Amino acid sequence: MKFFIDTANIDQIKEAAELGILDGVTTNPSLMAKEGITGTDNIYAHYKAICAIVDGDVSAEVISTEFKGMIEEGRLLADLAPNVVVKVPMTKDGVKAINWLTSHDIRTNCTLVFSAGQAILAAKAGATYLSPFIGRVDDINWDGMALIRDIAEIYTIQGYDTAILAASIRTSRQIVECAKAGADVVTCPLPAILGLLKHPLTDIGLAQFLADHKKAEGK
Ligand code: G3P
Repeated sequence: MKFFIDTANIDQIKEAAELGILDGVTTNPSLMAKEGITGTDNIYAHYKAICAIVDGDVSAEVISTEFKGMIEEGRLLADLAPNVVVKVPMTKDGVKAINWLTSHDIRTNCTLVFSAGQAILAAKAGATYLSPFIGRVDDINWDGMALIRDIAEIYTIQGYDTAILAASIRTSRQIVECAKAGADVVTCPLPAILGLLKHPLTDIGLAQFLADHKKAEGK
């Protein structure tokens, strides 16, 4: 399972990249706005800066909601760097745009996915990645992890190539569950990634090792 970071914050992207486990980045208009990045030129410059930090795929989302605008934007975004993946929402025009971009060798990430039916459509359209938002499914008291399991089962049975990119992850535990459920990629905030490091027995064990070493050295 690949690890992407879900942020447009350059410092956090660098911190995750320095860990050596970062396979890519996902962004969305809300995450860009959170960093105070506004205006097309600044937004595109920010994508380029992110793409220069990571070797892996960087999802950059279209703002247009109709087909023509989506493919025009998709072409501009894809030209920013070779590792850009164009993020397109799961709508009727979005599915058409994914199909068009795929047939023009532009990779896509179908976003705002909340059902297995949407996942089938995105795969049929040729999406490179599919982003089910599991946290938001849980928010409405449905089962986000069951959605990942359903899609993984369908994609295996049908032999679809689209990679399942579990998104809207809020906890470290969800990352572990995604690995069990068959996600190909998880995209997470930095605290959820760093939370995987934590175990009290690791801290206790390390303190004991260091204390024993000190004693043996007569210090
Ligand atoms: O990757 C999608 C993500 O940015 C949405 O997360 O926490 O706003 O549901 P959240």
